Amino acid sequence: MLDQLNGLEKTALDELHSLASMEALEAWRLAYLGRKGSLTSVLRSLGKLPPEQRPAAGRETNRVKLALEQAYGEQAAALKREQTLRQLSQEQIDVTLPGRPVEPGYLHVSTQTLCEIYAIFAAMGFQVVETPEVETDNNNFQLLNIPPYHPARDMWSTFHTTREGVLLRTHTSPGQIRVMRQYCPEPIRVILPGKCYRYEQVTARHESMFYQVEGLAVGRHVTMGDLKGVLTHFARQMFGANRKVRFRCSYFPFTEPSAEMDMDCIICGGKGCRVCEHTGWLEILGSGMVHPQVLKNGGYDPAVYSGFAFGMGPERIAMLKHGIEHIRYFFANDLRFLQQFA
Ligand code: DAH
Repeated sequence: MLDQLNGLEKTALDELHSLASMEALEAWRLAYLGRKGSLTSVLRSLGKLPPEQRPAAGRETNRVKLALEQAYGEQAAALKREQTLRQLSQEQIDVTLPGRPVEPGYLHVSTQTLCEIYAIFAAMGFQVVETPEVETDNNNFQLLNIPPYHPARDMWSTFHTTREGVLLRTHTSPGQIRVMRQYCPEPIRVILPGKCYRYEQVTARHESMFYQVEGLAVGRHVTMGDLKGVLTHFARQMFGANRKVRFRCSYFPFTEPSAEMDMDCIICGGKGCRVCEHTGWLEILGSGMVHPQVLKNGGYDPAVYSGFAFGMGPERIAMLKHGIEHIRYFFANDLRFLQQFA
């Protein structure tokens, strides 16, 4: 019995010291110290010994059990330490490696163009006001002199909502009514930038969502000369000091008289090319003297006050400035396009 115990102790310890993994260690523990392990079965067989041999055998068994348990604990600690060291050396972080670069963000080309427009008009005393994109039919049309069923409504293909009389604004012009009603009888010099929506076929020049910048000046002695001066200055600030502009008669229900401002083509210098459709001129914006009825709708007495207004598409301005061929590029979120304006 004692020989058997000593043999067992020796094999167990030899085996233990050659173990290299936590799994093997666990298997060893079950094999020797577990409920069905060798040492346990020795302990169980103690009862079969003659009584006089039992105490010595019992003592020896306990000694071996303690020795194995202690050795087990030491080996477990050693393996754990080894494992940690291995992990530390494998998962080492090289703090001297260069970091992953984070590219700085930048403004979208539409926003950049808007900012340039703001700066030019700010220098002439125009402040920026934003008005809602979801508008009433009243503000978007009726108060701008476009009654229901008026053929001029065909100029704006409209996204209507399920709520009667509520729509997505087709232009920034309804902002004129809002601003006039808010500031009347103060003089006004504002630009109204923002998104507009039209239910239209997407073409090279048209998207169903686009930006507009509206302008409005109202005061006691505002004339067509002011309109021409302000807009000519804008074109030259935006596109170069030598730009030629012309004002061409047009029609908008909310202005009288109305005019479109053209600029000599920046691609061909006025000789005629594909971009200007061989006219030598590029249309930049719509404008006019605020219609007396619209002034009245805003709260101003047209006998005392007058004003001018204009509306332009900043995407179109950007397209001309940067030679961009399709308006769809602006909102397609293709980085190859956007990064050119970083
Ligand atoms: N609202 C017009 C449009 O979307 C543009 C416009 C033309 C605005 C003349 C004006 C203006 O303020 O005076 O087509």
